[in-house]
Amino acid sequence: MGEEHWTSSEQDTLALARSFALQLHRGDVVALRGELGTGKTVFVKGICETFGALAHVSSPSFVILNRYEGKDRNDRELLIYHLDLYRVRSLDEIYDLGYEEFFYGDGITLIEWAEQLGELLPAKRYDVHLTYGESDSRRRITIESMISPKEPVIAGKSRGTP
Ligand SMILES: Nc1ncnc2c1ncn2[C@@H]1O[C@H](COP(=O)(O)OP(=O)(O)OP(=O)(O)O)[C@@H](O)[C@H]1O
Ligand SMILES: [Mg+2]
Repeated sequence: MGEEHWTSSEQDTLALARSFALQLHRGDVVALRGELGTGKTVFVKGICETFGALAHVSSPSFVILNRYEGKDRNDRELLIYHLDLYRVRSLDEIYDLGYEEFFYGDGITLIEWAEQLGELLPAKRYDVHLTYGESDSRRRITIESMISPKEPVIAGKSRGTP
């Protein structure tokens, strides 16, 4: 099920995503799931901020893939791939994008509606699941490493209360 966090605002979710991003490395894949409007794109923005990729992060309407340029800890260029698979109807569309570049390359890949990937979803990944809480701006966000499921994913971070 993963590590559970609660946020009460977009700012909270951005902060959670920024601290989660601190342990991301080149080649990592983050699979985001959650209903429309739960905050997947907000979470992507937070990760991008950590890597100084301050380009316009948005849920692409017709584009499946956006690329943002950031910097890693050593100030080397780092590409962030942002996929939004909401409108994908067939896995062929992903094959056509050349998925090996972003799933198995040396950038960081963030995927909204990752469940659309089926068999293409990389086994080595983080799963982030967002759900609505009991009030408008409340979100429950679970984060799990599928690489080492027992390891805490946000070091030293105190958890929100339900
Ligand atoms: N706790 C919260 N965390 C994140 N976003 C929140 C929170 N409370 C309110 N919001 C609002 O919810 C919306 C989340 O939008 P966002 O585009 O990130 O969702 P999404 O999951 O990417 O949706 P979609 O499936 O359409 O891509 C924003 O308008 C944001 O301001
Ligand atoms: Mg989105």
